[in-house]
Amino acid sequence: MKLTEQFWDESYKNNDIGWDLGEISPPLKTYFDQLTDKDLKILIPGGGNCYEAEYLHSQGFKNVYVVDLSKTALDNIKRRVPSFPSAHLIHMNFFDLDMTFDIIIEQTFFCAINPNLRPLYTIKTSELLYDHGKVVGLLFDAPLNADKPPFGGNKSEYMNHFHTRYTIKIMEQARNSHPSRTGKELFFKIIKKP
Ligand SMILES: C[S@@+](CC[C@H](N)C(=O)[O-])C[C@H]1O[C@@H](n2cnc3c(N)ncnc32)[C@H](O)[C@@H]1O
Repeated sequence: MKLTEQFWDESYKNNDIGWDLGEISPPLKTYFDQLTDKDLKILIPGGGNCYEAEYLHSQGFKNVYVVDLSKTALDNIKRRVPSFPSAHLIHMNFFDLDMTFDIIIEQTFFCAINPNLRPLYTIKTSELLYDHGKVVGLLFDAPLNADKPPFGGNKSEYMNHFHTRYTIKIMEQARNSHPSRTGKELFFKIIKKP
């Protein structure tokens, strides 16, 4: 299966977006609510309709960026949240991005890329972070599909990927998942190694 820009954009155009919760993912809301520095530079890769970016923006976070291959998804955010800075909605392949952030948020992006790109995800996220920057978010804790997204995984597999460049601070079953994902996802926080 070719996970091209066209594939993702048509999914949004056809509203074939089973992954879309229609609201901010509860564990991410809990995480965001304890952040106090509104100047943090935050990237949400493969953010899609990105209720997470909308929430952060509504809470006064000024440096929130979304990168996505789907222009339709980014246009949806623009339409829903007209005050969200257009320049922070980046229509690009995540792997081509060249910027630097404090935090990268993971929410059903890792499971959407071809699993053979997982080592590159580890490298690319670490390149996009300032020293001691972090990746925080959710990962599926189930095998899921072998031939199309969502591609699953488990804690030991994820730790194997990330330990090369990150210190694993948290990787545990999420406590307040969206009901449709209860018991099926891990909340994680990993810090870039110096
Ligand atoms: C399964 S969806 C998840 C969207 C959103 N995070 C959510 O939870 O609703 C995967 C998203 O990643 C985007 N995407 C896939 N590959 C990408 C890439 N290489 N660079 C940027 N975005 C990508 C797709 O367009 C899509 O919006």
